[in-house]
Formats: sequence, C-alpha cells, structure tokens
Amino acid sequence: MNLCTVILAGGLGTRMKSSLPKLLHDLLGKTVIERTLEVALKVDCKKTVVVLNRDSEAINKALPSDERISIAIQSEPLGTADALKSALVQIPEITEVVMVLNGDTPLIRLDTLKDLLQHFYKNSLNIGFLSFLASNPSEYGRVVRDSRGMVLSIVENRDATELQKSINEVNGGVYLIDKRALGLLQEIKADNSKGEYYLTDLIGLAVKAGMRVDALCISDETELIGINTRQDLIRALEALRARTNNVLLQKGVTLIDPTRTIIEPEVKIGIDTIIYPNVIIQGTTIIGSNCVIYPNSRISNSYIEEGVTIKDCSVIEGSYLKRRAMVGPFAHIRPGSVIGEEAKIGNFVEVKKSKISKGVKASHLSYIGDAEVGEYTNIGAGTITCNYDGVNKHKTIIGSGVFIGSDTQLIAPVVVGEGAYIGAGSTITKDVPPNSLGISRSPQRNLKGWAERRKKKPQT
Ligand code: UD1
Ligand code: CA
Repeated sequence: MNLCTVILAGGLGTRMKSSLPKLLHDLLGKTVIERTLEVALKVDCKKTVVVLNRDSEAINKALPSDERISIAIQSEPLGTADALKSALVQIPEITEVVMVLNGDTPLIRLDTLKDLLQHFYKNSLNIGFLSFLASNPSEYGRVVRDSRGMVLSIVENRDATELQKSINEVNGGVYLIDKRALGLLQEIKADNSKGEYYLTDLIGLAVKAGMRVDALCISDETELIGINTRQDLIRALEALRARTNNVLLQKGVTLIDPTRTIIEPEVKIGIDTIIYPNVIIQGTTIIGSNCVIYPNSRISNSYIEEGVTIKDCSVIEGSYLKRRAMVGPFAHIRPGSVIGEEAKIGNFVEVKKSKISKGVKASHLSYIGDAEVGEYTNIGAGTITCNYDGVNKHKTIIGSGVFIGSDTQLIAPVVVGEGAYIGAGSTITKDVPPNSLGISRSPQRNLKGWAERRKKKPQT
C-alpha cells in the first residue's frame, strides 16, 4: 500500500471568533491540530502533508518535529478542494492513495481509520469516507444516497434543499482517495453559495464518472466532531474527557464524579487510586496505585508514587512525591521539588525546587525554596527560607533530625547541621553547627504593673 496523508489546516477558522488560530485551541493539554496529527501519524503512511495558509506560522511552530511531516502553503483559502490541490505537489508520484483529514477533527480514533482503510481496500473503492448519523446535522455536509442506498454525493448544508437538510447522515471530513479519483479535482468548480472549491464535490463527480464510492457510517458521533465554534470545542472537550475517564475507570481507578474530573489523556494512574471531584491532572503526570486525591487539587507534569495523599485545594507542578507522602490541604509544590517518603507538607506550605527527605514534617504555613531538608526534620509553623536577596537565589541546607522552631527565617545561603535546634522566632544568618541550638531573639522583659499604669494615664 502506497499511502500518503494530507491534513487540511489552511482555513481561517472565523467561526471560532478568536485571535488564536482555531486549530491551536487547547483540547485537554494538546492543541486541536496536534491531536488530529497524532492519530494520523499512527497510520502506516509514507508522508504526511499539512496544508497551512500564509498566516499560519504559529500552527507550523506547534507541529511536532517528525521527518514524515511536510508543510504545504495554500496561498488563498479557496476551499477544501483547493487546499488538497496545494498539498498534491508534495505527494510522491508513486502514491496510490491519499488519506485526507480535516485538521479540526481531533477525536478520530486510530481503529476507525483502520476500519476505513479496510473498507476501502476490501471494496476496491476509488473514494471512501467516514460518515455518521448526527443528532444535530447543523453545518455538516449531508450524504445523499439513491434508493438502493448507494452514495450519490455530498451536499453542503448551506447549499442543501430543505429535503436534503432533513438527511441526518453527514460527512465526517475523513477521506481515502485513489489516484484516479484525484484526477477529478481539476473539475471541481466554485459554483456554490460560498464561492469555494468544495472537496466534497469530488464525491458526486466520481460517482458520475462511474467510480466506486462509499461511506463508512460510524456509530460514535463524537469521534467526528469538527471544531468550528466554541460550542464545538466544548463538545469535543467533554467527549474527550468522558473517553479518558472511562478508560481510567476500566483500569481500576475510582473517580468519585467523572463528569467533574479533568484528566488529560496522557496521564497514567494506578489501580485503587481515588480521585475526588474538581481535580485536574495534566501533562505527563504519572500517579501510582492507592493514592487519594481530594477535591479541587491540580497536578501537572508530576510523578507521584503509591499511597500518596493529596488533600484538598493543593497545586503540584513538575515535582516528585515519594511513597505515602502527604500534601495539603492548600499546599503548593512548585517545579523541581522532591517530597520524600512519608513526608508531610501541610496547609499553606509552599515548596519550590527543594529536596524534602523521608519523614520530614512541615505542617503549617511555611515557605521552603531552594532548600535541602534532611530526614525526619521538623519545620515549625511560619518558617521561611529567605532564598532571594533581590538579585540572586541562594540555598538553604538543613540536615537530618533538625528541629526548626516556629516563625524562623533562614537567610540563605545558610547551613543548619544535623540534629541542631533553632529557637522559635529566630532569624538565622549564620550556619548552625550540628547538634547545637541556634537562637537569635532579644530576651523577653516583663514590666510588672505596666498595664495598670497605662490605664490610669490621662487620655490625650
Ligand atoms: C467540512 C466539509 C463538510 C463536513 C465537515 C466535517 C467541505 C466543503 N465541507 O465542512 O462536508 O461535514 O467538514 O467536519 O469540505 N481548510 C483549508 N483550506 C480552506 C478551507 C478549509 O485548509 O480553504 C481546512 C480547515 O482548516 C479545516 C478543514 O479544511 O481544518 C475543513 O474546513 P472547514 O471550513 O472547517 O469545513 P466545514 O465547513 O466544517
Ligand atoms: Ca470544520
């Protein structure tokens, strides 16, 4: 099979009403075009040509670097047939079949593309395309069939008669076209309400020329959502979210309310992990088994081992949480942090680019940035590593078995040796040797009877 792919991504996307090209809108962590391309690239084909318009430098930049991808520029957005024509110059002569996908159809599944290929070859078609029965056919092209059920043509919504509009089998925008049928592209005219060259006119032309054309009608209409408007984008988001969450449920993850849990498709989660509503898990995150993630937390690009608990309203970004660590509620673990086994990072604690070792406790209201904290050290409430001098960042190194009293400021760079104690309320500017007490607060004075005297003082 000598197959090449063309992704049509040169349209203006005006219906999205956005300054961002419609194909660069986000769909659970990847752009619409990335998702479409990702599936298309899984089909065994020689080359994939992405058609862009002259102003789509931003889309070009967002494409993955893959030697099979090449770019064709459509000089004017004259319609989908014109877009395909601009790609053909890049298709090698020996290509027998071209697979064409609208770039705005990101939910298409690999298995469905394989089914279409099989249908195409088995029936020796010249053109095969995907259709579906739409609950709301709205702007989709209608598939017109004759009395025997043979495909005759596709009629675009705006050019359809009332009778044709009542057809609910619609064109999904995914086609396989052989060399012979491609020859008819030149015959497509822009004699329609939009004044565009419609790729869909190729169907009628091929049928008239006696070629073999058929549509494979699929049952899951969400797969072929074409994203034109914000409403379409939201429908696609919902469908992808449901699909992703169903896979997780099947794999043994508990989602207390899947309709209110946003997990990106690339995330991996182990069995018996429980995820409460309003949790967002993004990017390349991997979560082990038997974790509990309480409501309103967001985890992105992090690695979380088994048995970790993340309490409500915590944010974990680009970090590594080891076995049975506990984080939150209201904790912020910022990129580059490692939270050791069984360590506890409590409420209103922010950790940034720090290594927190096994069994450390920082239970309340602290900032730990650019620090290393040794095993089983206790960080009292209100501790701050003062890592920034206004120009540079400096490190705080705290040994193991240290006790940092509450309301301590550690002015970095500073080292607190193993087993040391810091008296509450200290501002530590110098290293504290191991097993010593570091304390820096003025001695307390109690002025006897002061309050009484104050009350008697005449008020001015
Ligand atoms: C198209 C089909 C319609 C089908 C629907 C499925 C045509 C004429 N109609 O309609 O039958 O039901 O998709 O989703 O094809 N593009 C270009 N250059 C252009 C115009 C468009 O590259 O000059 C690209 C767009 O970026 C988009 C794709 O082609 O990715 C489809 O174009 P779009 O305008 O979205 O077509 P629809 O009106 O949705
Ligand atoms: Ca579309």
